Amino acid sequence: MKSQKVKIFVQLIVSFTILCTLPTVRALKCSEVEYCSALRNRPPANLYIVDVYSIQIDDMGIIRFNLLARSGIEDLEVNVFAYKDDILRVKIKEFNSTRFELSDVFAGAPNLAGVQSVNTEATQMTITTNIGSRLLVKFSPFNLEFYRNDVLELLLSGDRLFIDNPTNSQSFSVGLVFPESDHLYGLHQHATGLTLRNTEAAEPYRLFNIDHPNYPINDTDSIYGVVPVMYGHGPEFTAGIFLHNAAQQFVDITHNTDGQNMAVFMVEAGTLDLFVYLGPTPAEVLRQYLLITGTPYMPPLWSLGYHQSRYSYYTQEEVKDIVANFDNYNFQIDAIWLDIDHTDAKKYFTWAPQNFSDPIEMQQNLTATNRKLVVISDPHIKVERGYSVYDGALENELFVKNPDGSAFEGDCWPGTSSWIDFLHPEGRAYYASRYLYENYPGTTPTLAGIWNDMNEPEVFGVDENVMPGDTVHYRDVLHKELHNAYGMLQTRATHDGLMERDNRTARPFVLSRSHFAGSQRYTAIWTGDSTSTWEYLDISYAMCLNSNLVGIVFCGADVAGFNSDPDDELYQRWFQAGAWLPFFRVHSHETTKRREPYVFSDDVQQVVRNVIQLRYKHLPVWYTLFHEHIAYKTPVIRPLFFQYTYDTNVFAIYNQLLVGTDIMVRAVSEPGVSSVPVYFPGGSNEYWVSLDGSTVYQGSGNYVDIPVTINTIPIYYRAGSVIPRKDTIKPTSTDMYDDGYTLIVNLDSSNQAHGTVYLDDTTSLFYLNYVEYNYLSLDYSGGELTFTKIDSHANSGQFDLVVDVVVTHQITELPSDGKPGKYVETRYEVDSSGNLLKNMKFNFKNATKLSLKLQ
Ligand SMILES: *[C@@H]1O[C@H](CO)[C@@H](O)[C@H](O)[C@H]1NC(C)=O
Ligand SMILES: *[C@@H]1O[C@H](CO)[C@@H](O)[C@H](O)[C@H]1NC(C)=O
Ligand SMILES: *[C@@H]1O[C@H](CO)[C@@H](O)[C@H](O)[C@H]1NC(C)=O
Ligand SMILES: *[C@@H]1O[C@H](CO)[C@@H](O)[C@H](O)[C@H]1NC(C)=O
Ligand SMILES: *[C@@H]1O[C@H](CO)[C@@H](O)[C@H](O)[C@H]1NC(C)=O
Ligand SMILES: *[C@@H]1O[C@H](CO)[C@@H](O)[C@H](O)[C@H]1NC(C)=O
Repeated sequence: MKSQKVKIFVQLIVSFTILCTLPTVRALKCSEVEYCSALRNRPPANLYIVDVYSIQIDDMGIIRFNLLARSGIEDLEVNVFAYKDDILRVKIKEFNSTRFELSDVFAGAPNLAGVQSVNTEATQMTITTNIGSRLLVKFSPFNLEFYRNDVLELLLSGDRLFIDNPTNSQSFSVGLVFPESDHLYGLHQHATGLTLRNTEAAEPYRLFNIDHPNYPINDTDSIYGVVPVMYGHGPEFTAGIFLHNAAQQFVDITHNTDGQNMAVFMVEAGTLDLFVYLGPTPAEVLRQYLLITGTPYMPPLWSLGYHQSRYSYYTQEEVKDIVANFDNYNFQIDAIWLDIDHTDAKKYFTWAPQNFSDPIEMQQNLTATNRKLVVISDPHIKVERGYSVYDGALENELFVKNPDGSAFEGDCWPGTSSWIDFLHPEGRAYYASRYLYENYPGTTPTLAGIWNDMNEPEVFGVDENVMPGDTVHYRDVLHKELHNAYGMLQTRATHDGLMERDNRTARPFVLSRSHFAGSQRYTAIWTGDSTSTWEYLDISYAMCLNSNLVGIVFCGADVAGFNSDPDDELYQRWFQAGAWLPFFRVHSHETTKRREPYVFSDDVQQVVRNVIQLRYKHLPVWYTLFHEHIAYKTPVIRPLFFQYTYDTNVFAIYNQLLVGTDIMVRAVSEPGVSSVPVYFPGGSNEYWVSLDGSTVYQGSGNYVDIPVTINTIPIYYRAGSVIPRKDTIKPTSTDMYDDGYTLIVNLDSSNQAHGTVYLDDTTSLFYLNYVEYNYLSLDYSGGELTFTKIDSHANSGQFDLVVDVVVTHQITELPSDGKPGKYVETRYEVDSSGNLLKNMKFNFKNATKLSLKLQ
């Protein structure tokens, strides 16, 4: 949203003296953080040996043994858990450890798989799990080796293991080697490319939620969110890890002498609780991770449409006018957003009395055209007697506390504030209940989404502008022990609140700046307070691809950069790229020029109108991908290496992405270009059909210079795919509900094509509670389209597949000698018997397979 630094900049213009009294944010380096500096400077040394007499296996198949430490540090206890689906977990801690253990990240209890055999020899022990993975425990010096099918995929290196005495510091370090990897990925969230770089001579990657306005690009410093997940990927194998710990972490990435990639985690507090995912593909690693941390509900369809936001829209009249202008100028829009100024003096759950005197009437105005409202709600609560949200939390001791037990107070948007303790179950329940219609005057179901911001949590005027680490949460947990999970816990409460408010029947929508492992169950995210420059456009693809790799698939970036003003070219290019990220919102700082599309010239408007229309035409694709994300734990957008796992050329590419498996988009993030290089993956049997001309490219493993105009960026359908679109232009996604599909059939070289489409009521939880949905396979062969129900148990009767048009793209000339091939487009508006296709309905109440003959 906005930042203290920018506020300072604005105030600088007003008064220089204010600047002198406000601190600036400066992120700390490892060398400035005592525990990190100590751990980083510790020479590698193996301090532990396995006490062979301590080895035990209990009835559940949990393996326990002890590590005897060199003098000066404590002996440790190791617990190894083998779960189904090639997931292993290792917990290492002191006996009777009092370290904080996170309990809010898991979606449910992981399923133990059990141990098949334990083979103890003189120097090592081999544990074979019931799922075939093997763990080799080396006794002296201590090392742990993780094998899948005899391939060593991960090594926990004993010489980087160091667990400081809890009386001294709670910190620990652990080193992980990925022997099969070419590159390491993950460690979200950083404004860097996909592959993690060597940090030996640089700063380690830092994982510490912090507001970092105008965050530097290519920097290993942390920003708003943290997901301590990492992939080691090579052409043949992928392994992954999740360090289940919410304290501050620094991570050094190195290549050891064998050319192997190693990550050394240096963690401030909490428990060493490591999940190991043995893949062996990126898709399997992600699935294994999401089996533990969960997936969201289906997003309401409107949330996949276009969102218009600004810091701030100041009056209810302005809100209504903006939406009316979107209609006047024929721009589609589903939601308008209100930043902090809609409240009474930054008191959340209130309305500014003059400027939003009749919020109900404003919402009714929005409802009349099927628009939704999203408002901001931050975790800081203004300290003010008589403000019921404050009074209730104070009385029930639901704020984060000072070490002396009093409610912590600090400075934020409202002035002096206190922060809800979201670790406290009653804190979450209290906050959730604030969203009930009776507790939040002036709200209706049109207020359909909530935006949680400043939830790192940000506190002005203290070190790094975040909540001090020695503040105290529920059951005496120190803030530093759970810092990175605070924002996730807020969104959990918000999500619960919206669920309760609507009797657990409507799907909530939440957007959050701070996030952590598990946040995907509750919230969408965005890339925070960027700047309107080409570099931030470029890195937005890497950042959202990275968030998809770590399971938070609903990601976007402020179009066209938060701070400062884009020129027309950047504005258009950002729209073109941003329309292909899952979350699509325009948002900018209060000092920027107005940025609604209709304030630009007619030419710019036409480009942007086309982009938004292209987004809406593809809403069925996005919606289906979210269903498949939930059903199969696949990402919504993916980097090329995720799909083309063997092709080393694509391992670092991030300015090209795949939407599902069938659409490839290349962002144009360089100014003034008339062509851009595009990489075509997939080998000689993969063909890519260009959306803006009858050209076909082969997956030759080469870059091809693709011409672009200001109207176009490179977008391709994969030959062999069926893309379900809705091409009729309507003002909102809601208005499109009954529209028929335009099925784009991209024939492969043997004239076959396959796709899927998912349908439900778009807003309720009936798809979940009553299995009310339809999910179809769309297959083309021999002039006939066949529609087959994939989930035979689904109650699909009310979700007809309505067809308007079928368009085939048939390759007529294969690419050769580096020259693109050609395809012909054929539009079918009637079937083979001459029946008009428009609005042709296929009902699946009783049928599981129906077909449409075209020729
Ligand atoms: C751990 O706690 C148990 C039960 O209180 C006690 O018997 C045992 O001695 C303790 N172990 C250590 C190493 O402190
Ligand atoms: C980031 O790093 C990449 C790779 O080293 C480089 O190509 C790019 O120009 C850098 N971007 C910025 C903004 O420094
Ligand atoms: C109310 O709206 C006016 C007009 O946009 C604006 O100047 C003023 O700052 C707003 N008041 C508050 C309290 O935000
Ligand atoms: C909503 O407000 C706009 C702007 O004031 C107005 O033009 C429009 O007619 C209103 N719509 C309804 C349904 O009241
Ligand atoms: C929730 O249930 C209450 C009581 O049955 C009902 O009055 C209310 O209309 C329901 N709200 C929604 C959004 O369904
Ligand atoms: C489905 O089958 C039932 C029972 O056989 C029948 O009554 C009904 O008419 C059928 N519905 C459709 C839409 O074909």
